[in-house]
Amino acid sequence: MKGWRVDFLVTPLRAGLAAAAVAAGVLAFGWSGLFNVAATSGHWPITDWFLHYVMINSVKTRSLAIETPGDLDDPALIARGAGHFAAGCAGCHGAPGRPRSPVIREMVPTAPDLGPKVPTWEPKHLFWIVKNGVKYAGMPAWVSAEEREDEAWAVTAFLLKLPGMDADSYRSLAFGAEQDGAANGFTAVKPEPQGAAPREDVLADCARCHGRDGAGRDNAAFPVIAGQNEAYLFDALKAYADGRRHSGIMATAAARLPEPELRALAAHYAAQPPVAAKGAPPVEAALVAAGERIAREGDRGAGTPACASCHGPSPMARNPAYPSLAGQHAAYLESQLRLWEKEHDSRGGGPFAGVMRKIAFGMTEEQIKAVSAYYASLPRERTP
Ligand code: HEC
Ligand code: HEC
Ligand code: HEC
Repeated sequence: MKGWRVDFLVTPLRAGLAAAAVAAGVLAFGWSGLFNVAATSGHWPITDWFLHYVMINSVKTRSLAIETPGDLDDPALIARGAGHFAAGCAGCHGAPGRPRSPVIREMVPTAPDLGPKVPTWEPKHLFWIVKNGVKYAGMPAWVSAEEREDEAWAVTAFLLKLPGMDADSYRSLAFGAEQDGAANGFTAVKPEPQGAAPREDVLADCARCHGRDGAGRDNAAFPVIAGQNEAYLFDALKAYADGRRHSGIMATAAARLPEPELRALAAHYAAQPPVAAKGAPPVEAALVAAGERIAREGDRGAGTPACASCHGPSPMARNPAYPSLAGQHAAYLESQLRLWEKEHDSRGGGPFAGVMRKIAFGMTEEQIKAVSAYYASLPRERTP
């Protein structure tokens, strides 16, 4: 046997040459065009298994440190997630009563029907996939992934309800009173000459979440925009569309719309009667009193100015770029203040957003809760 022994010393030079030879071989194979990229040929079963094995383990390892919030059963969170799912996910994954298109079925890997997949994951794994997407697979990351983890959790909350959901429940969750089909997340709207009114199909999409009257849905999942200042509404829509105000949900709704359409939508919702947010839960009286003090007098010690000077309530004329807050539901106001309070620019906005960012920075959780409860307790009004 001794004759068979090859004395081969691995030196750094030899190792380097071997690695270079392998790299050259791989490059030559790529150059030759022999590898078949045709989706028609699919993957070999072993490749398919390996890719899924890698994906599943990557997701599980990377989500180890994620803390799952306790309120994933909150109906507002589920409704928000469902509304986005119809525009941002169902086009690839299908939905109850809405099978995947034959074109999607030909993707390699394909976007699977998620009902049977959800139980194979823990909530934090689903959150990780929704937030980060899957490389080389066509599964996109969340728009504003770092800034809006709360939105990726909303979609996760919806996904957890998806297994076994029937078509009617899905329809009413994602479309409200609107027709199935009023979700145009993937289609571009042509910049047509514009009348004063928004296009019917576009308004139908907004109305799935905000209602045609702008009062939102009965679960307080969406901000009330009825009777809001037209200038502010337009600034907000433009900021979502341009990515200056971070929201994957609103970017999906607004980014494809040409500017005249955004103006028409702002005019439509500004013209609606200023009704209070639908389905808003009652607020605590003690919080309201503390909030009124902050709104009217500010907090000198903390350097917080009186909110009322810019947001009312007051009979004085105000800048129409400053939103009216009265009658908005508290959870939404809190969410916006918390976004500004975070150190990075989680909540951008219109041309004056920098003013508000400075004010919100340093506000405590108690102040945020109190002042939001106060504004939620007021009747909605038009800005004088
Ligand atoms: C452009 C098409 C596309 C869109 C849009 C899309 N996905 Fe996917 N998704 C995919 C593909 C393709 C995969 C398969 C990835 C794989 O097998 O590695 C996938 C995988 C997933 C998975 C893992 C499924 C599993 O167990 O294998 C989840 C969960 C998921 N997507 C959720 C969503 C959600 C929620 C949205 C919307 C926010 C969304 N996807 C939008 C294409 C898409
Ligand atoms: C899938 C549900 C959904 C759809 C569809 C939708 N919105 Fe929204 N909208 C939301 C959510 C959620 C927010 C809160 C986003 C945030 O946190 O900034 C919001 C915020 C807004 C705001 C900002 C409100 C404020 O007080 O600052 C405006 C304005 C708005 N939407 C208008 C529209 C218009 C117009 C359309 C149609 C083009 C539309 N939305 C479509 C869910 C939706
Ligand atoms: C100097 C004027 C000014 C003062 C004072 C002010 N704000 Fe604002 N606020 C703004 C502007 C401008 C915006 C719009 C930012 C944008 O472009 O989205 C805004 C937006 C908001 C919003 C988001 C509303 C929505 O519909 O999304 C909340 C909530 C808010 N302010 C709360 C407060 C509170 C609470 C105080 C008092 C502690 C306060 N603001 C004081 C100027 C002000």
